[in-house]
Amino acid sequence: MSNYHIKHLEEYLQVYRKSINHPEKFWEELAEENFVWRKKWDSVLEWDFEKPDVKWFQGAKLNITENCIDRHLLTRGEKTALLFEPNDPNEPAEHITYNQLSVRVNQFANVLKSKGIQKGDRVCVYLPMIPELSIAVLACARIGAIHSVVFAGFSSTALATRINDADCKMVITSDGAYRGNKTIDLKGIVDEGLEKCTTVDSVLVVKRIHSEIQMKSGRDFWVQPLLDKAATVCPIEIMDAEDPLFILYTSGSTGMPKGMVHTTAGYMVYTAYTFKNAFQYKENDVYWCTADIGWITGHSYIVYGPLANGATSVIFEGVPSYPDFGRFWEVVQKHKVNQFYTAPTAIRALAKYGTDFVDRYDLSSLKVLGSVGEPINEEAWHWYNDNVGKKKSPIIDTWWQTETGGMMITPIPYITPTKPTYATLPFIGIQPCLMDENGNELKGGQAEGRLCIKFPWPSIARTIWGNHQRYKETYFSAYKNNYFTGDGALRDEVGYYRITGRVDDVVIVSGHNLGTAPIEDAINEHPKVVESAIVGFPHDIKGSALYGYVILKDTGQERDPDNLRKEINQIITEHIGPIAKLDKIQFTEGLPKTRSGKIMRRILRKIAANEMESIGDISTLLNPEVVESIIENRL
Ligand code: PRX
Repeated sequence: MSNYHIKHLEEYLQVYRKSINHPEKFWEELAEENFVWRKKWDSVLEWDFEKPDVKWFQGAKLNITENCIDRHLLTRGEKTALLFEPNDPNEPAEHITYNQLSVRVNQFANVLKSKGIQKGDRVCVYLPMIPELSIAVLACARIGAIHSVVFAGFSSTALATRINDADCKMVITSDGAYRGNKTIDLKGIVDEGLEKCTTVDSVLVVKRIHSEIQMKSGRDFWVQPLLDKAATVCPIEIMDAEDPLFILYTSGSTGMPKGMVHTTAGYMVYTAYTFKNAFQYKENDVYWCTADIGWITGHSYIVYGPLANGATSVIFEGVPSYPDFGRFWEVVQKHKVNQFYTAPTAIRALAKYGTDFVDRYDLSSLKVLGSVGEPINEEAWHWYNDNVGKKKSPIIDTWWQTETGGMMITPIPYITPTKPTYATLPFIGIQPCLMDENGNELKGGQAEGRLCIKFPWPSIARTIWGNHQRYKETYFSAYKNNYFTGDGALRDEVGYYRITGRVDDVVIVSGHNLGTAPIEDAINEHPKVVESAIVGFPHDIKGSALYGYVILKDTGQERDPDNLRKEINQIITEHIGPIAKLDKIQFTEGLPKTRSGKIMRRILRKIAANEMESIGDISTLLNPEVVESIIENRL
């Protein structure tokens, strides 16, 4: 028996032990009993964290869309698979059944083929949160093309960087996007981005906002007329367990974004299993994750995890503040949502407007509340628990990463007793540990250190696209034989984990992972900038916000600081996107440096956070005098 659905604490403990003591046996049974395979594996797990190299279910053959769609058609054909709630509350919601999803994915897959897309080709998907985003992703998976979804808030430069890194052959986009009371010219951004790309042969365009756009003859195609002509059956491509399913970019502490590569079988098994248990999903529940499919949360817990379980998954096009701050709760009431999964930043933003908006709606359908993407502070946790969950829906604070593919540390609702700000216990099969700065594991109960994982789990990213060496250096070099998460954590006396935040140069702003190096690179392109350093600082709503210290060229010209600040943020918007804009920009004559010339960001972080008392010893700096002047001019 594979214990696919865990129902009580004893069972969790027993299954957890089994998954640690006999991991191969455990995952083999789970995989065998709960998924459709075209051929069974030759070996369950091969791994070596030194190389690093991880393979799950090697030799097995399958297609993830057969598991997410086809196998449900007999029993759940008329059940809603995707429930689309548009940006405008007056536009009707769309219920897409499993039967309809099947037809639409098959047709879309045939269109991809007709444009020359084959197994292994990379397809960039740059779409707003409309059903076609899920459909395009699944269509790629059906024919074995590797999707690379780029969040539609990224700029043309960021899009081009990602297209070029993966040598994408095709881009799937829309004429534009609705976002609250704004429209966004997505196709214009794609056109601009493609000026810097040479590998893209075709662009498929979904009509969403009916705007006038440029269509480049021979390259750009409206997708609807092609879909209308496409056959409704497209045979699955039989994939190897370890064939790449998708690439998804995440910020690193240096340079280029990292194209994390997820493969097929392990990712499917783990996202499906975590979805079922972490949400305690039951047949006929309506599940809603507010993330964008442009992030890993959307991949794993809007598309693949829910659909592999035959669930009903809401796709929300809008924003929490439009037409007012009650929008989330209105949608919960309207669709009788049972599981609701969002980010702490959204909770904090809504809490600012009091409880009136929440109280207006009937939220009695809610059974589970999820949180993801950043630490949830105590105040936000209680606001969520008291006002949204009415103290009867457990909060699952789920810790995981783009790299982990699925949830790693999370309570199981109604099973694991929750504790505010704690992600609590590892999920089945996950072996976390804490390390000190010298690489020694901190054993026993209470401890604080750097969070690592000792043993592979099925959905671990297998590499960084085109750069295995960077994968090794980033995740497997700091602590021998361990996957290093980049996060700090503490463990309490009963073994609950609390994630304290990043320990590298990644800052999480409103739940978005932002490496500071690429932002600095962008700023340094401003003709008046000599050097810059960016750090995070605590922010009431965003969790963390960005503080930039910028050295200007002595041009001898009059400087208008506010104008320069605008220009700097404009450059960031162009290179990365508005999410990476700086909240504060301080112009300074110098930056604190070590004698070897390295910027001491630790000191800059303390100053930005107004924690001057804990700056510590600065006498070993190359230029200690600069610290005082930075403190004096702090914003
Ligand atoms: O620092 C952790 C934080 O988000 C990082 C991963 O970001 P990303 O790859 O964009 O994936 C976000 C969605 C899974 C982590 O290294 N993080 C994520 N969830 C939590 C969290 N920090 C604290 N508590 C969480 N629940």
